[in-house]
Amino acid sequence: MTRKIIIDTDPGQDDAIAILLALGSPEEVDLLGITCVAGNVPLDLTTRNARVTCELANRPDIKVFAGCDRPMGRDLVTAEHVHGRTGLDGYDLPEPKMPLQEQHGVDFIIETLQREPSGTVTLCTLGPLTNIATALQKAPDIAGRIQEVILMGGAYFEVGNITPAAEFNIFVDPEAAATLFTSGIPLTVLPLDTTHKALATPPRVAAFQQLGTHVGAVVAGWLGFFERFDMEKYGSDGAPLHDPTVLAYLLRPDLFTGRHVNVEIETTSPLTRGMTVADWWGVTDRDRNAMFIGDIDADGFYALQTERIARL
Ligand code: RIB
Ligand code: CA
Repeated sequence: MTRKIIIDTDPGQDDAIAILLALGSPEEVDLLGITCVAGNVPLDLTTRNARVTCELANRPDIKVFAGCDRPMGRDLVTAEHVHGRTGLDGYDLPEPKMPLQEQHGVDFIIETLQREPSGTVTLCTLGPLTNIATALQKAPDIAGRIQEVILMGGAYFEVGNITPAAEFNIFVDPEAAATLFTSGIPLTVLPLDTTHKALATPPRVAAFQQLGTHVGAVVAGWLGFFERFDMEKYGSDGAPLHDPTVLAYLLRPDLFTGRHVNVEIETTSPLTRGMTVADWWGVTDRDRNAMFIGDIDADGFYALQTERIARL
């Protein structure tokens, strides 16, 4: 069954690989549009990088929209230290020729959800949740029309990556995350608990290079750049690959296991801002508002990525 999706994203190398995974899966994914948000790098770069990625996949027809250029109520925090100045360092690609859509990304999300039959559109979010929360505040009626939000964000057993307590996507805009997590919309969360079990080890990176395609070489180049920061930080044999887990879950949920639990977002404490407090052991009677994924078949995940990206 083909799933209609909108990808909301702040490319970043891992976001870009997630977009390629979607574009390599046309039988299962009907990508209605890509909405960009400020996050890893500022909005002008995330909109550039999303279009660079679509053109890399020879899909200049994909509609790419600019969304919010800063969090709902805070200054923007970016992550060039991880992703490089452009956000897509690791392989030099030409500037995009395809246009950016005129419509604001938030309005595209609202219009699409109000047009498509209720319950038929899934939002796959790969960055800070500013666009989604802004759309929910501008048009509250869309909450009941969203089939599911599958998001990369948060952490519980793995703790934080941008602070000791918080994962980057949630940390950048905790108020936006709190809006989504209290909305009642069906949520599936791919946290660091999962992504840190999906390391881009040298054999896995080599598998992209060995595809013998231009896209495979670019992905290997991106991973080679993206991994240097995390390998030094964690002393691991590869960097965690975050955002493609969202599309992999959509395509092959059997590769994942999780638990339906309560997850709340810290928005006031400066020390724990953006922390996702998951009631994994059910010690409260709070509403179980999220499927919180805790484990992944990492070999199956990488096999899926190389198989689909080989098609591009
Ligand atoms: O913490 C990892 C997340 O932050 C990923 O989505 C990465 O692209 C960055 O946005
Ligand atoms: Ca991202």
